[in-house]
Amino acid sequence: MTAPLWTARVVTVFPAMFPGPLGESLAGRALERGTWSLEVLDLRDFADDPHRMVDDTPFGGGAGMVIRPDVVDRALQTARPAKGRMIYLSPRGRRLDQALVRDLAECPVVVLLCGRYEGVDQRVLDANAVEEVSLGDYVLSGGEPAALCLMDAVVRLLPGVTGNRDSLVEESFADGLLEYPHFTRPAAWTAHDGVERRVPDVLLSGHHAKVAEWRRSEAERLTRERRPDLWASRERSIKTLTEMRQTPNGN
Ligand SMILES: C[S@@+](CC[C@H](N)C(=O)[O-])C[C@H]1O[C@@H](n2cnc3c(N)ncnc32)[C@H](O)[C@@H]1O
Repeated sequence: MTAPLWTARVVTVFPAMFPGPLGESLAGRALERGTWSLEVLDLRDFADDPHRMVDDTPFGGGAGMVIRPDVVDRALQTARPAKGRMIYLSPRGRRLDQALVRDLAECPVVVLLCGRYEGVDQRVLDANAVEEVSLGDYVLSGGEPAALCLMDAVVRLLPGVTGNRDSLVEESFADGLLEYPHFTRPAAWTAHDGVERRVPDVLLSGHHAKVAEWRRSEAERLTRERRPDLWASRERSIKTLTEMRQTPNGN
């Protein structure tokens, strides 16, 4: 068997949560074929007491428990890749987006540290220069669902995982835009509200250039309406690129 294209090394107190949903469908088949590999380290195996304790009370008081630095450090020294990145899933981190997903897909090994309780002692994150990545501005009860989402997003980009590579080129965020709407048969459909809804004529026209133009303009409209932040950042990138092209020496 050839070496996997991508390896996720997960550090968790709940190893039974993996591969979970990633054992099914495209990711599951790719895992079976060895396109990617999943290594799960049980944080409790790195504890040094008979009760396999990984947490302790927070200095300064307050609610909850904190995961101990010595235990995490031993796990990270075992998980540390020769070439790769170490990530702590955390609501304080850089927000996961498609650009970061693409970067991570290029990285042969990614270590994913899943927090629990109040989180992980800061010193072990600093000592290992761990990157923090967030799934979004809300609080999960643990890093495991975030690690599963991150892995799902990366794995589907690996060669051979997603059947039709074109769908990766056209989908949301690929070009800084949300995706255009999709339709399938029947061409005219009456829903429970009694209103007949028809597929836009252009999609039935068989005119490829017009279809592409319509999809592009719908993608732009949806992005402007729903994600003004994404639209503004795309406009800024286009402006910068245009300016760079106009000054070939970068002066
Ligand atoms: C209950 S949370 C801790 C929340 C932390 N006390 C705070 O207020 O930021 C436990 C763990 O879930 C994970 N987690 C929670 N929300 C997350 C998010 N939005 N993205 C990624 N991981 C998250 C982190 O690993 C975190 O250590």
